[in-house]
Amino acid sequence: MKHLLKMMDLSGQDIERILNLADALKLEQRQGVMRHPLKGKTLAMIFEKNSTRTRVSFEVGMYQLGGHAIFLSNADSQIGRGEPIQDTARVLSRYCNGIMIRTYAQETVDQLAEWSSVPVINGLSDQSHPCQVLADLMTVRERFKKLSGLKLCYIGDGNNMANALIIGGLKCGMSVSVACPEGYEPGAKSLEFALHAGGDFTLTADPKKAAEGADVVFTDVWASMGQEKETAARKKAFAGFCVNSELMKVTNSAMVQHCLPAHHGEEITEEVFEAHATEIFDEAENRLHAQKAVMELLMA
Ligand code: CP
Ligand code: NVA
Repeated sequence: MKHLLKMMDLSGQDIERILNLADALKLEQRQGVMRHPLKGKTLAMIFEKNSTRTRVSFEVGMYQLGGHAIFLSNADSQIGRGEPIQDTARVLSRYCNGIMIRTYAQETVDQLAEWSSVPVINGLSDQSHPCQVLADLMTVRERFKKLSGLKLCYIGDGNNMANALIIGGLKCGMSVSVACPEGYEPGAKSLEFALHAGGDFTLTADPKKAAEGADVVFTDVWASMGQEKETAARKKAFAGFCVNSELMKVTNSAMVQHCLPAHHGEEITEEVFEAHATEIFDEAENRLHAQKAVMELLMA
């Protein structure tokens, strides 16, 4: 593993290795054990979109591993003034030991990696959110002590989260079912993978069908970053795709996961969100442990 660019690049074994280290790092932190495998190392963090969790968990994670993180945004770096990504990659590679990027096109992440001589980590693109899905799989595994054989259901937009969950879930031997409104299906590459993965995959426009017997229910916002202008149209299209207590009744007393930020009362009711808040904030916490594992494996 040289970079973490998208979920598709990881094998089931890679995922297991990352989750095992993440569990160990979480335990170490709980026990107050300090290890500094990234002492003297620096991570550059490029943010072309907003963030709370990703920024804070990467920055805190680097600090805890003995290293340092630098925040770069479009507003105050030359990236925002059009410096080519291949030049940014070569410059940051001369100073830093790793680069995290949150951006729009997956091609930007891939190009950064192509020109970088240090590991690149995707902190969210329009196509994928691998760091989030590693934390998600870690949280589900903590609860059930396994992943294989569980039914993962995703209700909502076929976005970066849907793409990464389909691939991550299937690679871990889970049965995956997705409910999206017509016209908002996951990306072609994820669907192609799902159809050829040989696992148990269902795509439907019926949320109840997708949720039936599910062990874990995922959802995400209806309009992702960059789609703000489509908000009104999307609210209409996704009207029947709310994770509410009616939907939860058909699941196998499922746990609920949301990558956050959530729009309470849209993709998930306040009632379901609060009933599952511990699981959802465990998931947010696990971003820290999962990313520390990724950084240690890539950068130590
Ligand atoms: N889930 C997630 O990536 O959160 P942020 O957008 O706050 O980083
Ligand atoms: N799908 C959301 C995830 C945010 C963490 C977005 O891309 O905005």
